Amino acid sequence: MCGIVAYIGQRDAYPVVLKGLKRLEYRGYDSAGVAILNHGLHVYKKKGKVAQLEDFLTGKNMQSHIAIGHTRWATHGEPCDRNSHPHVSGDGKLAMIHNGIIENYALLKQELLNKGHQFESDTDTEVLIHFIEEIRNSNQCAVEEALRIALKRVVGAYVIVIVDEDNPDTLIAARKGSPLVIGVGKGEHFLASDASPIVEYTKEVVYVNDYEIAIVKADELILKNITNERQTPYIQKLDIELTAIEKGGFDHFMLKEIFEQPQTIFDSLRGRLDAKNGQLTLGGIREYTDVLANARRVIIVACGTSWHAGLVAEYMIEELCRVPVEVEYASEFRYRNPVVGPGDVIIAVSQSGETADTLVAMESAKAQGAIILGVCNVVGSSIARLSHAGVYTHAGPEIGVASTKAFTAQLAVLCLIGLKVAIEKGSISQQRFQHLLDELQDIPEKVGLALKLNEQIKQVAQKYKDARDFLYLGRGYNFPVALEGALKLKEISYIHAEGYPAAEMKHGPIALVDEQLPVVFVATRDSFYEKIVSNIQEIKARKGKVIAIVTEGDQIIPAMADDVIQVPEADELVSPIISVIPLQLLAYHIGVSKGYDVDKPRNLAKSVTVE
Ligand code: G6P
Repeated sequence: MCGIVAYIGQRDAYPVVLKGLKRLEYRGYDSAGVAILNHGLHVYKKKGKVAQLEDFLTGKNMQSHIAIGHTRWATHGEPCDRNSHPHVSGDGKLAMIHNGIIENYALLKQELLNKGHQFESDTDTEVLIHFIEEIRNSNQCAVEEALRIALKRVVGAYVIVIVDEDNPDTLIAARKGSPLVIGVGKGEHFLASDASPIVEYTKEVVYVNDYEIAIVKADELILKNITNERQTPYIQKLDIELTAIEKGGFDHFMLKEIFEQPQTIFDSLRGRLDAKNGQLTLGGIREYTDVLANARRVIIVACGTSWHAGLVAEYMIEELCRVPVEVEYASEFRYRNPVVGPGDVIIAVSQSGETADTLVAMESAKAQGAIILGVCNVVGSSIARLSHAGVYTHAGPEIGVASTKAFTAQLAVLCLIGLKVAIEKGSISQQRFQHLLDELQDIPEKVGLALKLNEQIKQVAQKYKDARDFLYLGRGYNFPVALEGALKLKEISYIHAEGYPAAEMKHGPIALVDEQLPVVFVATRDSFYEKIVSNIQEIKARKGKVIAIVTEGDQIIPAMADDVIQVPEADELVSPIISVIPLQLLAYHIGVSKGYDVDKPRNLAKSVTVE
């Protein structure tokens, strides 16, 4: 949520920052801005996407060896030029970009107003830079010292970067609760919300920790903690390639990521699954499989699509491991004073590893004695670091705001976890274990076959794109898939869509059914097959339009559905990884046919770093 980029070094800083902002636009895109130093501080900001800022700046002299930039997802104040970042101090000498929320900004603002400060924006960020300025002036100290004092009073989450007209060779940054990566080059440094703006220049990065302050010059990086003690920067090697963050010939990142799934699922299984020899290795949680097997309860906390992956995992883990599983919206779990403690295992599922609600839920459960395991995609992310142990999903960078490949990789990894615990616990037969290993091994190929349905699904999308509402129904393992299908559609096509357990549909949503309503059934051959056939008939009896996702070779449902999409057969435990593919494509094609920017749907952001 909000992307920040900064550069200091020998290059022309503005193009580096502009390109970085484009890479980070998935984090927010309602306005953007940059600040440079060129005979004084210059700040430019514009409502809209980064391209609008770029147009606005074309032809201007943007030469500078230092620059900061921001792409915004509004929290305080509507998206407009005035509320865009960077924000400046009262004397116009300091400019700041910020990702996060200053929760006590109203109180600080009142204090500053009493002291005569005037504000141009409605943001918490402008309050913070004025607060730092006020401390600097009243204590006659350096900005770095003023920042340290200010942060002791600030409540909330932040990554901030400050540029100071009087100190043109230094950037000052600080982090608490939001991500900050520093790229270390030769005589240059890059600061960003994630590694994507950095990877084309250097593979050496430092992940800044909470409560650390970075003083960054072209050829020097000093890290200090909030009590002013020097910290040793821990330089890590990035393992992503530039191609992973570019569209590579696809019209959209979302489509590229949908089509990458045979490979990304393979990557999530690689080195872990050895079906031929009946082996499964999960080094990341080696010391915790016992704890999981004997857990009083497993609680999965997550948000959005990751929460849907958690729901599938509930079915998987309960069936395989015979351990009770609860799946919680992280935001609700944290604030309802849950009963949690020793004996409970929390599994936090997150693509970004930075989702604020998930992080806070983990922190509170950890403080109460629960073991925390992370299933994250982004290596080195906050959730990964806060966990006692975990398993990375290895789906590669996901740029499209609507999650696709991260979801299927999460399902694959959560299935591996369930299988590993089950075989060690003895709650699964050797034969079923081997069968499921074989099934998992075949998944990438079957997903590849499901992707061949793209053209057919495009036609189905054309037929239904003008519908006002959609209903998605599934049972058992396919119920969370129905939820995910509905979420994908509303995220990128802005069509109202509801996911429901197919049987529960009789208790309300059936009232919506008429000849206008497309109902998507996820009805592959599983233990609920006969039951869902009855549910389809109930919809047809009321003239609803049925789009059915079925198993190849099905003879029964095609005779009653309006449109049928046949996916490869798979064991029901792993079938969600396949049955979700047509739903991703359906949402994609409907969104595109309506002319929407499917990679950056309105109002959404990929990494939600505010609670
Ligand atoms: C946002 C994204 C979703 C994502 C959710 C959770 O809402 O738009 O795609 O599923 O956050 O994010 P996480 O990174 O924790 O999986």
